[in-house]
Amino acid sequence: MKQPVRVAVTGAAGAISYTILFKIAAGELLGSDQPVILQLVEIPPAMGALEGVVMELIDCAYPLVAGIQTADNPEDGFKDADIAFLIGAKPRGPGMERADLLMGNAQIFSRQGKALNDNAAKGVKVLVVGNPANTNALIAARNAPDLDPRQFTAMTRLDHNRAVGILADKVGAQASDVEGAIVWGNHSPTQYPDLHGCTVAGKPALDLIDRDYYEGTYIPQVAKRGAAIIDARGASSAASAAQAAINHIHDWVLGTHGKTVSMSVPSDGAYGIAPGVIYSFPVVCEGGDYKIVHGVEISEFSRGLMTHTDDELRSEKAAVETLLLAETEAAV
Ligand code: NAD
Ligand code: LMR
Repeated sequence: MKQPVRVAVTGAAGAISYTILFKIAAGELLGSDQPVILQLVEIPPAMGALEGVVMELIDCAYPLVAGIQTADNPEDGFKDADIAFLIGAKPRGPGMERADLLMGNAQIFSRQGKALNDNAAKGVKVLVVGNPANTNALIAARNAPDLDPRQFTAMTRLDHNRAVGILADKVGAQASDVEGAIVWGNHSPTQYPDLHGCTVAGKPALDLIDRDYYEGTYIPQVAKRGAAIIDARGASSAASAAQAAINHIHDWVLGTHGKTVSMSVPSDGAYGIAPGVIYSFPVVCEGGDYKIVHGVEISEFSRGLMTHTDDELRSEKAAVETLLLAETEAAV
């Protein structure tokens, strides 16, 4: 029997967790032979609700669950964690943009970055789901000086899955026929779903849809899908977000076997993107690591959209830097 892997999840009493915890416990994250210890983190007022989730996890009698721990603070919750899903944050309501959430969440993620630095396993793999996910991941990474910034990633796998699913639905194919879709940039409406290298059952995707549909309908539909779901459901996407978070960590740990997926990772300057921002790139994963795919052809059209979303990330970074500086000054 393998040693259990410790998986920490924040926002453990929330909507996304109500799907993801049961998937992790069932073996969908790390495989059907890998035991897990669940470390569930919430804020004090939600600990009662969390107890209910724990009761349900116990009642599933999952064979792979080697322990369930709860904590009302990240310092205890992240102890020795090998994987951390940072889901807990304030979700966006109708009419709100992610930028509105930037400041409140900056405080949450600076504390969580420090807590990971001081308590988690040295090789911890971190996925930030809570919005604005890319900039929250940057804040957490900045607060973890003993960890490699590459250990901090943000979720654009949901956008990637949307790009695949919506295209497959449009052309009457199965999602498994679609290869080579890329989501560039921020998990926000400025993201750029790029189909230039994408194929559907071996045929170029852009030969199967017309250009006006691609530019005028498809790109905004993928990029604004989160808002459309909030409008329709009155709550943000939860099951599809949980599925994408599972896909992201599963592939990072177990590999993509040559397939390209989209992950928001620290830019190393690839494709001219500002070094340091956490930007969604095409990646392949192997041996527990990810690698940005180089050599994707970038048209003038693509360049414009890639720069636009990079600009947004740079301005989020600048806004947060001012906030963190103000906090430091207030503390002295
Ligand atoms: P939710 O409101 O149902 O649950 C959030 C939970 O987080 C709550 O139980 C709350 O008590 C908890 N929480 C808040 N602050 C916390 C903290 N500091 N530490 C630990 N727990 C904390 O929200 P949800 O639907 O589960 O969504 C969670 C986040 O994920 C939101 O920010 C949402 O916008 C974001 N999201 C991101 C994506 C993506 O693709 N990146 C997709 C969907 C949702
Ligand atoms: C999503 O993309 O569904 C989430 O990020 C929720 C949102 O605010 O759009």
